[in-house]
Parts: sequence; C-alpha cells; structure tokens
Amino acid sequence: MTLDVVILAAGQGTRMRSRTPKVLHPLAGRALVRHVVDTAAGLDEASVHVVVGHGAGAVRTSLAECPVDFCEQTEQKGTGHAVAQALPSVGEGKVLVLYGDVPLIQAKTLEGLLAGVDEQHMALLTVTLDDPAGYGRIVRSDKGAVTAIVEHKDADAGQRAIRECNTGIMAMTASQLRRWLPELSAENAQGEYYLTDVIAMAAADGVEVLAAQPTSPVEVEGVNDRRQLAALERAYQRRQAEHLMSAGVTLADPARFDLRGEVTVGRDIQIDVNVILEGHVTLEDDVVIGPNCVIRDSVLRRGAVVKANSHLEGAEMGEESDCGPFARLRPGTRLGQKAHVGNFVETKNATLGEGVKAGHLSYLGDAEIGRDTNVGAGTITCNYDGANKHRTRIGENVFVGSNSALVAPVTVGNGATIAAGSTITREVADDELAIARSRQVTKPGWQRPVKTPKG
Ligand code: UD1
Ligand code: CA
Repeated sequence: MTLDVVILAAGQGTRMRSRTPKVLHPLAGRALVRHVVDTAAGLDEASVHVVVGHGAGAVRTSLAECPVDFCEQTEQKGTGHAVAQALPSVGEGKVLVLYGDVPLIQAKTLEGLLAGVDEQHMALLTVTLDDPAGYGRIVRSDKGAVTAIVEHKDADAGQRAIRECNTGIMAMTASQLRRWLPELSAENAQGEYYLTDVIAMAAADGVEVLAAQPTSPVEVEGVNDRRQLAALERAYQRRQAEHLMSAGVTLADPARFDLRGEVTVGRDIQIDVNVILEGHVTLEDDVVIGPNCVIRDSVLRRGAVVKANSHLEGAEMGEESDCGPFARLRPGTRLGQKAHVGNFVETKNATLGEGVKAGHLSYLGDAEIGRDTNVGAGTITCNYDGANKHRTRIGENVFVGSNSALVAPVTVGNGATIAAGSTITREVADDELAIARSRQVTKPGWQRPVKTPKG
C-alpha cells in the first residue's frame, strides 16, 4: 500500500507573538515543520504533503529543498478542512496525519500506528495527561472501544474528567478518509470542521479505532508558545546528549550542551560546558573541547584540542593540533598535524602545515604556511588591497618575527627569517634574513619638553 503523509501547518500560532509563522521557529537549528517533514520522509515509501496557509510563502521557501508538495488552505476552517485540502493529492493507500507544530514525533511510533491500518481498522495516537484541559477527549464504550473524540470546548463535565487525550496524530486508509471528510459539519462550539469527528464516523461504519500511545509523552507535545518551544528544545537536546554519552563522549554537563545539526563522533571525546555544535561536525577519537566553544561545519582529527572560547567554522584541525583559547578559525582553515594556533588568532582560507605555531594575536588569511614555521605574535597577512584578495606563501621552517606585515601577493622561502616589525612587500628567498623596518636612532641625554608656565 502507498503512504501519504499530510502535515498540517496552516495555523497562525498567535500565542508565539511573532512575525515568523509558528512552524518556522527553530528547534535545534531546524524549523519545527522541518523536523516533522524529515521524520515523515524517512517512513517507507512516503509521499509528503504540507498544508500551508498563514505565512505560506515563507513555509514553502523554507522547505524548498525537501521532497514534499504543498496544498494551500487559504482560510483556516479547522483540522478536517485542512486535511481535505490535501485529499486530491492523496493516493489509494494509507494516510497519516501529522502536525507541523509537534516536532518530536518518532518514526518508530508512527510505524507502529500504520501497521494496524486497513479497511476494517484506523489508528489513533492518544496520551494520558494529568492536565487534559484544551485537548480533545477520547470517549470509549463500556468494552473499551474508542467511539468518539469530543473537543474540550464541546465537552460536558463528565467528558472533561476523561484524561485520555487526542494527540491529533491519526492514520487511516484513503478510501475511509474520502468517505468521511465530506460528511464533516461545522456545527460545534468553534464553528470548525473537526478532523476528530471522523472517529465517531469510523465507529458507526464498523471500523475499529486502534488507539496507541507514544513511547514518551514529549513525542506528542505541541508548540503553542515560546515556553513550550524552550521546553521541547531542552528535551531534544537532552536526548541528543544521551545518545552522545552512550557513544562514548564525556559531556561535562549534558544540560549545557547544544547540537544544532549532526555530529559524527569517535571514542573518548571530552566536551566541556556551553559548547554548541552546528551543521555537520566530525569529532574523531580523543578530541577535547573546552568551555564556551562554537564549532560549525568542521572536522577535528584524532586528539585535536580546542581551548575555551574558540569559534570554528568550516575548519579542519589535524591530529593533535590545538587552538585557543579565543581562537577564530574561519572557512577554509586547515591545520596540519600538531599545529598550534593560540589566543586571538584569526585564520581564513589558510593552510598551516604540520607543527606550525601561530601563538598570539594574528590574522592569517589566504595563506599557505609550510611545516615547522613559527609565526610571531601580531603577524598579519595583508591579503586585501581594497579590491582583490591575494595569497601569501610562507615556506617550511620559516621564522616570522613579531609584528610583521606580509603584503600579499608575497612569497617567503624555506628557512627564511623575517625580522620583527618588518613590512614584507617583496619575495624573500630560501634561508635569507629580511629586515624591512627603519633603523633605530638613539640620542644620548635627550631632554624631554617641559610645560610652559601659564600667564
Ligand atoms: C487539535 C485536536 C484536538 C487535540 C489537539 C492536540 C481537532 C479538532 N482538535 O486541537 O483533539 O487534542 O489538536 O494538540 O483536530 N491547522 C490547520 N488548519 C486549520 C486548523 C488547524 O492547518 O484550519 C493546524 C494548526 O496549524 C496546528 C494543527 O492543525 O498545527 C492543530 O490545530 P489547532 O487549532 O492547534 O488544534 P487544537 O485546538 O489544538
Ligand atoms: Ca494545538
């Protein structure tokens, strides 16, 4: 049987008090609805349809790279009406309804739900809550069969006492849905076409409603305001932190770790507090990351060490290399094995060979630096002439004295020495010493100026 997943994402989300459509608020760096789309797309042979309305343009744009199609719900007349907008795009197999603002639903739960669906059975995900206010309540017969869902606003006191609630997530066959949806009416407390009314129709049709529960209640929690968004963010981060710890990573404090993307990890990695990993990050065995570091789209080879307060983006650190504290490795940075980048050093499009040391206060941009070269404090590659970028090539085993400016394009040969304070504008050949600074002048017994008396 084919599977069509319909994701409802047309609502406004007033309680977010935001100009951004609710489903586009990020959780772990990814839009809420994107989490749902990614989970849905991972189901076997699923075609995914997203019902958009409020902020439709923005939602479409944010999902542009996803294999989904969109159905427009221009007026929000209820969840049943929303599903009806997708009905023409749905095939002849099973249909699964998900919510764009319920981001943590797990594929395993959905697979369990779908397994029982056929022409005699539909499936419904329910959750038992201590405080069920606001939710649709699951009405069961004396024998325990699910016979209806009553929305909170339509429920009487007896029904409001029911603690088993509708999560909104359900699955049925396309033919059941085509039979039931046209029958919905908006004669209820909210004047909406409730999808939940199909449950009573199923019961009347002799279709059994299989009710299942999620493994964890957080899977079915929705985001209606920013408090709930923050709570789900923490729940999600906790889950990721636990996976990493199971994989052999030491986290100084799992509550102070954030992964906004994907990380591939080796063994015996140590991550201190307040570290944020973004995009695609690879951490090989024995990597150590100090506190307050942000690492985005980077690869850290075995034994690399990132010291406190460093910022990495698009960088590759070689085996046993280290950087920081307060290092900034920008895109195109490659540190060779055992290379060392110290505090307040910024690198960009720069390759530092094995054993290179750049310990303090430097800018190394559009540069190639050969192995074992020492870059003195305050060295700057002047790579930009105001219009174009130029490269600086420094050979192996070079000694660049402190506070040197290398005006690119420029080449420094192997074994060369640059005297401190030099401004290098021309090639320095192998093993040469270049001194490019004014000579020191000394005046013995120099008398400093004295203040002229007033008046
Ligand atoms: C719905 C259920 C309720 C359940 C609850 C779980 C109905 C009638 N009620 O209530 O039983 O306990 O979810 O959270 O289904 N949406 C659209 N178009 C619309 C209306 C809604 O796309 O016309 C989307 C919303 O953006 C949202 C989702 O559907 O993502 C749920 O809508 P919402 O209005 O929040 O439903 P609830 O009142 O919470
Ligand atoms: Ca809701």
